[in-house]
Amino acid sequence: MTMLYEGKAKQIFSTDNPNEIIIHYKDDATAGNGAKKGTIVNKGVINNKITAIIYNYLESKGVKTHLIEVLNDRDQLCRKVEIVPLEVICRNMVAGSASVRYKIEEGTTLNSPIYEICWKRDDLGDPLINDYHAIAFNLATEDELKKIYKMTDEINRHLSEMWHKLGIILVDFKIEFGRTSDGEIVLADEISPDTCRLWDEKSHEKLDKDRFRRDLGNIEDAYIEILRRLKEL
Ligand code: TMP
Repeated sequence: MTMLYEGKAKQIFSTDNPNEIIIHYKDDATAGNGAKKGTIVNKGVINNKITAIIYNYLESKGVKTHLIEVLNDRDQLCRKVEIVPLEVICRNMVAGSASVRYKIEEGTTLNSPIYEICWKRDDLGDPLINDYHAIAFNLATEDELKKIYKMTDEINRHLSEMWHKLGIILVDFKIEFGRTSDGEIVLADEISPDTCRLWDEKSHEKLDKDRFRRDLGNIEDAYIEILRRLKEL
């Protein structure tokens, strides 16, 4: 196996099949575009499981994903895709950078979800852009953007309902999409407490990576709690 790419939380390996890759989940954690670095014990094992449960759930609802199968504790076999260089963010409540940017208190509810796109450019800190930038910079076509927003809306509806059944508020999340060899847009990357804000419905306790970003402690316990609740599905 050849390593094709190493990101902050995952490594990507080639397989004998040119249309398939292996994603290896690491314990490394970063925040603030790499400014803060650390490890969360067993995060890779937990996020591999969490992503698989969520992607299988979404597949059962008709959302196409890159996941083929979980191979072991840290590895997933996935369809090889060309990643659309956008971070697609969906917000159901104000939190994080939206709270800072608009000076609105965290936890404020919204009339409707907000969808944002950021250009995946580590050297620029993944700047917020709009559809015109995405098309002008050749990051995605107009048709691809339409498909991406439609899928994001479906994913948000399915996951908000799923988390609500488990007593959790889906405050916001980030997803990424890929193009398969036949040009289909599928959900790629991961969905885990690294990439979502998840608050307990009753206590509003944060059960996600904000515990690492903001030095709140009990990080591992939060990730384990999220996996425990997902197993109730
Ligand atoms: P933000 O409030 O920092 O913009 O983050 C919004 C959501 O996107 C939050 O759930 C965390 C997630 N996210 C990532 O997964 N990766 C990133 O690089 C960023 C900036 C946010």
